Amino acid sequence: MWIFAYGSLIFRPSFDYLEQRRAFVAGWTRRFWQGSPDHRGTPETPGRVVTLVADEHAWCGGAAFRIDPAQGEAVLAMLDAREQAGFERHRLPLWDSPDSPAPFADGLTYVASTDNPHFLGPLDEPSIADWIARSHGPSGPNSDYARNLHDALHALGIDDPHVRTIAQLLGRLAAPGFPTSPHSGPSGLPDPAR
Ligand code: BEZ
Repeated sequence: MWIFAYGSLIFRPSFDYLEQRRAFVAGWTRRFWQGSPDHRGTPETPGRVVTLVADEHAWCGGAAFRIDPAQGEAVLAMLDAREQAGFERHRLPLWDSPDSPAPFADGLTYVASTDNPHFLGPLDEPSIADWIARSHGPSGPNSDYARNLHDALHALGIDDPHVRTIAQLLGRLAAPGFPTSPHSGPSGLPDPAR
């Protein structure tokens, strides 16, 4: 059994696996469009985490983890509980690269649909970075999530312009002179609570 990770599972899988390899999925793109009321934000001020958004011509790169079939149900039950705020299991083919002649396996992943109650939707990248810079939840600062994701993708040799742009903007936002305390950022930028 394979699990495809495109977000925090890449850098924090928190389950045992037999093998990890880079993988791609076809027809999906990664976007910071899902609200996180439980991990990187709160119900009142949700953070922003990535989900997969359907995009016919896109490829999304991440990591595939091969799980011992004997542990499969337990791992999925743990992930169902961890990702209960809007994410649902989704089965999809896994590819070594966009140039591969065929997928190497079917995998399971978690997708937050556009009609789930925590879906926040599109926003320009500077505003997403500002939102993330102000958000914090039980799993830690939203900005750590974004930077860890960027670094994990970089280590896999995957360049995702959306993630890279936001990580770069966060680097700038974190520089001296830029307020990053929760919800006290520059005026005129959106409040994550909305
Ligand atoms: C992940 O692939 O890291 C992931 C993303 C969203 C929910 C659960 C897992």
